[in-house]
Amino acid sequence: MPSYNILLLGSGGRECALAWKMQQSPLCEKLYIAPGNPGTEQYGTNVALSVMDFEGIKKFCLENNIDILLPGPEDPLVAGIYDSFINDPQTQHIFVAGPSKEGAQLEGSKAFAKQFMQRHRIPTAAYREFNESNFEEGIAYLKQHALPIVLKADGLAAGKGVVIAQSTDEAIESFTAMIKDAQFGDASKKVVVEEFLTGIELSVFAMTDGTDYILLPSAKDYKRIGEGDAGSNTGGMGAISPVPFADDAFMKKVIDRIVEPTVRGLRQEAITYAGFIFFGLIKVNDDPYVIEYNCRMGDPETEVVIPRLQNDLVQLLEKMMEGRMNEVTALHDPRVACTIMLVSKGYPGSYHKGIIIKGFEQVNGSMLFHAGTAKKDNEIVTSGGRVIAITSYGNSIKEALTTYYENASKIDYEGKQYRKDIGYEFI
Ligand code: AMP
Ligand code: GLY
Repeated sequence: MPSYNILLLGSGGRECALAWKMQQSPLCEKLYIAPGNPGTEQYGTNVALSVMDFEGIKKFCLENNIDILLPGPEDPLVAGIYDSFINDPQTQHIFVAGPSKEGAQLEGSKAFAKQFMQRHRIPTAAYREFNESNFEEGIAYLKQHALPIVLKADGLAAGKGVVIAQSTDEAIESFTAMIKDAQFGDASKKVVVEEFLTGIELSVFAMTDGTDYILLPSAKDYKRIGEGDAGSNTGGMGAISPVPFADDAFMKKVIDRIVEPTVRGLRQEAITYAGFIFFGLIKVNDDPYVIEYNCRMGDPETEVVIPRLQNDLVQLLEKMMEGRMNEVTALHDPRVACTIMLVSKGYPGSYHKGIIIKGFEQVNGSMLFHAGTAKKDNEIVTSGGRVIAITSYGNSIKEALTTYYENASKIDYEGKQYRKDIGYEFI
């Protein structure tokens, strides 16, 4: 049986869940995580390298005979880590489990994604694209557009580049700030203006080798800081899987109208894409629409999706590498999984770091995935806004939630906050 040395890039809860899963595989020889966190260290060896240090990553891969490089976050993919490895004779034998720079544009450029969807008739909100050269036309467009109206900086803006304007004045103000005042730097030189869709959101994930694909369990994340989905947007405060309304009939529409045309479209356009595709969807009445694509797994969705994936993840990566995704069938755990994020006080605004976390040993019946933690003098301390994801299984959302709330109360650090209503619409 072959076995692989794997380098996983990233340091969040997503990477902790991926590392937990991969180290269970008999196909995993050595697992390294760069830079990792105290959670990933339980499952492999952390390496002090930034995810954007392509030279350092290359050197490490060569010195440690890495076979598979799996980028967790989008930045290295959008910056072209795939191309940098494939175009270098020294590293082209290493499989980068992620899209080419061009493929990563599905996430890296909202305009690219919208044009792609239009070419392949994939359902999404109606839109227009504006920049400095047609700025005045954009203002006129905003003035006659129905409200609310959605403005999106074209490029990566750390999840902050979307504005849902409730008034025309607010829309014009944001539009001007993005284009004229470079509010998000180069990312907002171009702006996508789109129609507001009303519905309920969900996330669907595919693993593709560029031709065939499998679907991973669906998930729903809870992005707002406050209970009842109030307050500021965050990276995600919790997630559930499966999504109760994503039944067979709905998923058939998702597959026929969105997943298949996306994978086929990439292939038809000769866009190199072997990796994860994250479909950020919204259900409008009974129909799915694409809100966004991401070229990687979601966080905290991974913390529920991966625990419900019964396949060997390294074997799936092997099939992806060999272009044999058609040989595998995805196996989903019938149980429900829920995750909640324990966050720092002040998040998503400013917060303190370096606060000691206690109570790990008291957790029972849940899995802990470290997100923003670090080691300091042999203690685990907070080092980010999202600190720890607690994942539990159950036969129902309610049952899974009971276990995790018990465990959430056992992890203890000053300023601990978490939402107590994850999955509330479905209970
Ligand atoms: P995005 O970064 O494109 O995922 O947008 C961030 C969030 O804004 C999404 O998760 C949605 O909640 C919301 N959003 C984006 N586009 C739309 C839209 N066209 N209609 C309604 N809500 C949207
Ligand atoms: N939870 C949303 C994301 O990972 O983008």
